[in-house]
Amino acid sequence: ISPCCLWTFFCIPNMIQAAQLPFQGPINCMLKLANLILSLSPATVSVTFVTTDFIHRRLLLHSNTAARLAHDYRPRFRFETVHDGFGPDENPRNVSLLTMSLEAQAQAEGSRLREVLGFGSAEDEMKKPVSCIIAEGLYGCMVDVAKELRVPLVYFDTCSPCCLWTYFCIPNLLKVVDLPFQDDEEGLDASITSVPGMETYLRRRDLPSFCHAYDPNNPVIQLVLKEAQEFPKAQGHILNTFDELEGDYFAHIRALCPNLYNIGPLHLNLKSRIQQETTKSISNSLWQEDRSCLAWLDAQPPKSVLFVSIGSLASMTKDQLMEIWHGLINSKSRFLWVRRPGSIINKDEDTSQDDLEMIPDDLVEGTKKRGCIVSWAPQEEVLAHGAIGGFLTHCGWNSTLESIVEGVPMICWPFYVDQQVNSRVVSEVWKIGLDMNKDNCTRVVVEELIKELMETRRDEFSKRADKMAKLAAQAVAEDGSSYNSLNHLIDDIVSMRF
Ligand code: UDX
Repeated sequence: ISPCCLWTFFCIPNMIQAAQLPFQGPINCMLKLANLILSLSPATVSVTFVTTDFIHRRLLLHSNTAARLAHDYRPRFRFETVHDGFGPDENPRNVSLLTMSLEAQAQAEGSRLREVLGFGSAEDEMKKPVSCIIAEGLYGCMVDVAKELRVPLVYFDTCSPCCLWTYFCIPNLLKVVDLPFQDDEEGLDASITSVPGMETYLRRRDLPSFCHAYDPNNPVIQLVLKEAQEFPKAQGHILNTFDELEGDYFAHIRALCPNLYNIGPLHLNLKSRIQQETTKSISNSLWQEDRSCLAWLDAQPPKSVLFVSIGSLASMTKDQLMEIWHGLINSKSRFLWVRRPGSIINKDEDTSQDDLEMIPDDLVEGTKKRGCIVSWAPQEEVLAHGAIGGFLTHCGWNSTLESIVEGVPMICWPFYVDQQVNSRVVSEVWKIGLDMNKDNCTRVVVEELIKELMETRRDEFSKRADKMAKLAAQAVAEDGSSYNSLNHLIDDIVSMRF
């Protein structure tokens, strides 16, 4: 089986290591963290970012980060790669394979991981053994690796804290029989009572995707259970959130992980710490950004455009594509739609273009009049554009935070993992969007939700979203909660106070 994994290793002051998931959101987080560490710490601190061949190839091809960091921070920053078994044209998307290969790498004697982490070279300052590991929270195996190397471990869980808390509660869910459950319509609306702090709003349908049709042998479940067990054992924990955003359940995470650094929204923290002009030109994209959509947005009225994107991993069937498309056209809203190559199941990986002869005339005409379709967009810039009035999103954690930062209300169409929980919190707790249950993605539902968000309840959603955007801005401003938390993290890294 081909392994698919992404490894990210930071080295501070000799090396810090982080293992990362091969999705755009988590990669953005780790690259931004690397950038912040390099820019805010003394020159004695170096960062080595180790990734798989696949991700490294894509970053060199489509992002300018690799070259920029290597240039700006030479010789303090560099990439290392771990072979993943994928050819240049393959696009590994299977999370369980990723997981298994990562676990195997961490356990194997003489693995590339151990070589990069544990063995120094007298000639090369950068190749000293690591002094600290920063790893993606999902990789429970890193506790043993860090112990073996006798270095501190800091977990950075790049998914949402509200979902992380549900992971911690899975053993409890099983005990009180909130899990497993029948995956039928009626049962899905039943309340979940065994996730403390979320009792008033969490339903079965809002639990992470792998809780549906619960199978204890599912490798993702095993990974998540391992995370719940191992995560608190690290010496420090980084989360991409800010204090003012989090609700009642957060006190429980804090009790388990007292050395917590809430440094989000990370992309805003980066912008506020590093010159605006520099951050504007940063791209971590794994796909080529089509910047022509910004010119198209310039020509649209304020807050009139719905942005549609389902992130870097989710994919839809052709039927779902047609329902979304009809819903968009029937709503009469303007829209900017990202159709990532490979995001339509059974469609050619390399194209986001439609075979126009197969598409009904009203969709083609409506799209020409009011729509713009691109294969990948500069999303942060798009969401910051004055023409954007709403975001139809899969509710990946980064997309959710990026929308919050720009005060853009959301229609949530969750697919996997944390997206179900996130969409519930967006709609029920923060009330800055509407939740579309994935199974209800019909053209009528899509049209109604768009009209509700962009027209009938627009002011109400905008007001709340603006308020939340202000809280995010305050958190990263000087002396704000995330600003201070990032300072503590850097201080603790530099002095190895873990
Ligand atoms: C994955 C999981 O899907 C998500 O649930 C989890 O929270 C993080 O890992 P991903 O699919 O990559 O994330 O979604 P998300 O976290 O929202 O990140 C997507 C990133 O891609 C965002 O930072 C967004 O700005 C960027 N993006 C997306 C672009 O730059 N251009 C696009 O056209 C679309």
